[in-house]
Amino acid sequence: MAKIIDGKLIAGEVRARIADEAAALAKCGVVPGLAVIIVGDDAASQVYVRNKHKACAEAGFYSEVIQMPRETTENELLCKIESLAEDGKIDGILVQLPLPEHIDEKKVTAAIPPEKDVDAFHLENTGRIMTGDYRYLPCTPAGIMTMLRHEKIDVAGKECVVIGRSNIVGKPMAMMLLNENGTVTVCHSKTKNLAEVTRRADILVVAVGKAGFVTADMVKEGAVVIDVGINRGEDGKLHGDVDFEGVKDVASAITPVPGGVGPMTITTLLENTLAAAKRRAER
Ligand code: GUN
Repeated sequence: MAKIIDGKLIAGEVRARIADEAAALAKCGVVPGLAVIIVGDDAASQVYVRNKHKACAEAGFYSEVIQMPRETTENELLCKIESLAEDGKIDGILVQLPLPEHIDEKKVTAAIPPEKDVDAFHLENTGRIMTGDYRYLPCTPAGIMTMLRHEKIDVAGKECVVIGRSNIVGKPMAMMLLNENGTVTVCHSKTKNLAEVTRRADILVVAVGKAGFVTADMVKEGAVVIDVGINRGEDGKLHGDVDFEGVKDVASAITPVPGGVGPMTITTLLENTLAAAKRRAER
């Protein structure tokens, strides 16, 4: 039976440290500030944004949620970003994705000043990840790296397999594992003999968005399995991309859903916002 990696517990420890650092910074007159913009009323996005706002309050951050209607034009959104870019209280700007189809996501991420881009989606920040010379790291993969470090799972020399090649998770995850000297393979929907590849993994990261996609026969005995999936089942419950019940008997460590990677994502957002506020304090 695998060790269950408790993301909630790790997130709690990291957030306590962040709150301490935020309190110290506030004494110098700098309160970390995050602005989250949400366009439209996508139910899942509303929940994510509410959780971000709550986490900010608990860490002693200032936070603003800017709710804009679905009909908001691209220009209106860009104007809002521009005013937040100039707002001295705001260290981080996050535009919740997905955006309605009539708004160009690329234009929006390009409009966020790289130093306030706590999602690390701006091309400048994306490029910095390639060279290992980064200011911010994307929240989900960086949260996973924090978990691995916390569990003393060394990446160097390990066979790391990432399933999924999204810009938000799969690609930056691969780059971060590589920066830590892992031997990295990225799999996707066109990968042939997927199970053969995943069975080589010492560390398997799954971000495909399909409930129960990875089954026990795809996992090497003793592997570390990280489940990024958050799939709402017909039962109304959240399910990961990994068949937890089957895989837990094969893996040496596994993240549950919920309570695994999820809490770490917002934790990294707090870390990035705190880092931005520290930079403001130094100016
Ligand atoms: N939608 C789903 N995940 C994310 C995220 O990490 N950042 C933003 N901005 N939107 C998201």
